This record gives sequence, structure tokens and C-alpha cells, in this order.
Amino acid sequence: MATAGKVIKCKAAVAWEPNKPLVIEEIEVAPPQANEVRIKIVATGVCHTDLYHLFEGMHKDGFPAVLGHEGAGIVESVGPGVTEFQPGDKVIPLFISQCRECRFCKNPNSNQCDKGWAAERPSIMSSTDTRFTCKGKKVLQFMETSTFSEYTVLNQMAVAKIDPAAPLDKVCLLGCGVCTGYGAAVNTAKVEPGSTCAVFGMGAVGLAAVMGCKAAGASRIIAVDINPEKFEKAKVFGATEFVNPKDHNKPINKVLSEMTNGGVDYSLECVGNVEVMRSALESVVKGWGVSVMVGWTDMHDFSARPIQLIAGRTWKGSLFGGFKSKDGVPQMVKAYLDKKVKLDEFITHNMTLAQVNDAIELMKHGKCIRTVLNISPQ
Ligand SMILES: NC(=O)c1ccc[n+]([C@@H]2O[C@H](COP(=O)([O-])OP(=O)(O)OC[C@H]3O[C@@H](n4cnc5c(N)ncnc54)[C@H](O)[C@@H]3O)[C@@H](O)[C@H]2O)c1
Ligand SMILES: [Zn+2]
Ligand SMILES: [Zn+2]
Repeated sequence: MATAGKVIKCKAAVAWEPNKPLVIEEIEVAPPQANEVRIKIVATGVCHTDLYHLFEGMHKDGFPAVLGHEGAGIVESVGPGVTEFQPGDKVIPLFISQCRECRFCKNPNSNQCDKGWAAERPSIMSSTDTRFTCKGKKVLQFMETSTFSEYTVLNQMAVAKIDPAAPLDKVCLLGCGVCTGYGAAVNTAKVEPGSTCAVFGMGAVGLAAVMGCKAAGASRIIAVDINPEKFEKAKVFGATEFVNPKDHNKPINKVLSEMTNGGVDYSLECVGNVEVMRSALESVVKGWGVSVMVGWTDMHDFSARPIQLIAGRTWKGSLFGGFKSKDGVPQMVKAYLDKKVKLDEFITHNMTLAQVNDAIELMKHGKCIRTVLNISPQ
């Protein structure tokens, strides 16, 4: 590899400050250090968590940064000590690591690895260390992945090697949204056959949750969204009924309770709004109902009456669908290649890196499910 060991100059979309359009810049990407892998990004999805950081969280210490965390690419070079990866390998960068050594990795019931930004600086959403510079300034690697760049560098504990047959412009969605929603239903809620589920928010995360509920054998899957344009897509993934809270003048939990003789067995909040999280909890049946928070927010407290839980409901949260990242992602890639999970149906737009702000606008206005940015040819 002609570039191995050298600084790579390449294009990236830099978020210089919150609430401003991203700027396509030439950045310098340092060579991988010990245990690191430098990756040529081929394709990346745009997820609402990128918009969250830019427009909602807006943490002052989280900029300048290169956003993007739902990508796929090819290993360009590896640093000292890396034996698991070689140049040319197809990989998916992981926004949560799996070091296999910490207390959380060793526990089969958790994917909350203790290494990386999620453990160190969860509200800033990047670690202090970065391999990126631009115009002489250090630029942060958002979620350590920074897939809105032609090249990125990650520790090998946050990289999954995937089947060489995988089309990177599709399986990039397994880097976040699809694993998140699907796993929230299958791994976190542990949806059971014959059950009734409600999924709030029909973005890619919610649609993937619908797909997970269906795979788990749910017999009724109620899709809830304030944007009725999403319902046609929800059908494709297995939703059986649709509710638009705006069509009702009573609380949505009352509507769902009436539809289901007292509440659904499982609900999944895939919006990122604490009021919706409360509605989702109040929509599950007393006695055994389980509600899972999937939407990302770290801005407001959530609240509910204790009697909701005293009456036997369970309230849980899910990060990356509960998948241990390095183990789970290659399995989900295989499931896609075996036609057991859908990916193509999530993709409503394909664009280039230069169009990243258009992709962000589409999501902001609810006009897409996923836009895939084609960053480099495969
Ligand atoms: N927990 C995790 O690991 C994780 C990972 C990825 C994304 N997320 C979060 O999941 C959420 C969804 O992400 P996405 O990319 O699918 O977003 P998206 O913007 O594509 O979809 C959100 C959907 O919610 C709907 N919505 C908004 N307000 C609503 C309301 N009051 N009631 C019902 N529906 C409502 C919107 O119309 C839209 O269809 C975001 O909060 C994102 O940050 C969490
Ligand atoms: Zn995401
Ligand atoms: Zn770990």
C-alpha cells in the first residue's frame, strides 16, 4: 500500500460548530498507531444521532468534529500489534467497542464495553484523542467512527470484519440504525411469539424494531408516528396497524389500551423524546408489559408515576440493540446475505459526500428513511 505509514490527505465533512451546515474540507488523517486500523470509507448512512449532536445536544466541547457512525469500508493499513485485520478486508466501524476484557464485555448480558467515548465522555460523544487535523486544528472523531470522511482510524476493538461478499453500500446500515432497532426488539425487549407490540417512531431505527418484532413472531405490530407518510414503509417491515397520535384527541396510551384490551405486551420508543418515552411506558399492559427506550437523548429527565412500575411494568433502555458489537455485526451481515433481514428497503436516497447537508435536511424534515452517502468507489 503506497499510503501505509503516511499521513493521508482526504475529503471529510467537518462540523466546525453546532447548528451550522457541515463544510467539506481537506483533512489530514494520521497513520494508525498501535492496535489501530485505518479504513477507507466506502459508504455511510446518516442517522438521527448525527443530527442530535449537531442540532440538539450541541455540546460545546464536542466540536469541531467529523460526524457519521453508520459506515462500511475497506482496511487501508494497520498499526503495530494488529493481527486480526489486513489491508483489503471489508469492515464496519463500531461506535461501541468490544474489548473482550472488561467487566462488561465478560458479562454475557451486556454490550456496554468500558473502553472508548461511550464510557469516557458520553455527553460529548467523542474521546479526546483523534487522528484528524484540519487547517492546523485538531478535529474530533464523533463516536470515534467519523464516517463522513474518506478515511478514518479506529482501535481494532471497535472494528468488525465482515463477509467479503457483503455490499458495503447496504451493510453500512448495520453500523447503527438497523442493528439498534432490530436488537432492541429481539435482544432487549425479548419479544415473544404471538405478542402485541407498539413501535413509536418510524425512522430506520423504528422500522428495524418492527422487523425485529416480526422476526420474533409478534402477531400484532402497531406502528405509531406523527408523520403518516411513514406508514406505507412500516407495512413492508411487518407492521399490522398504524396510529397517528395527531388523529386522536386523547392520549396515545389510551388509544393503544382500547385497541389491545388493556395495553400492548411490548413497546419500543424510537424517537428520542422523553414525553414519548413516558407514553410508550404507559402503553404497555400492567402485570408483564415491557417498554424499551431506544431513542437517544441526554438533555432532559424522564418521568412517570411509580405505580406504573409497581403494577408490574418493566422500563428498559437499549444501546446498539444490545448487540456485543464485534460479535453481532458480522452475524447481522450474514443474516442479510442469507435474506433473513432486510436492508435495501430502508434506503430511500443515495448521495455523495458533497451532498451531506442535503441528506441532513431530508432527515430533519422527515423526507427520507435512510440516505446512503457513497464516499469512495468500492
Ligand atoms: N440507542 C441507540 O443505540 C441508538 C442508536 C441509533 C439511533 N438512536 C436514536 O433513535 C432515534 C431514531 O433514529 P432514526 O435515525 O430512526 O430517526 P428518524 O428521524 O429517521 O426517525 C424518527 C421518527 O420519529 C417520528 N416522531 C417524531 N416525533 C414523534 C412523536 N411524538 N410520536 C411518534 N413519532 C414521532 C418522526 O416522524 C420520525 O419518523 C433517535 O433518537 C436516534 O438518536 C439510538
Ligand atoms: Zn445511529
Ligand atoms: Zn470491553
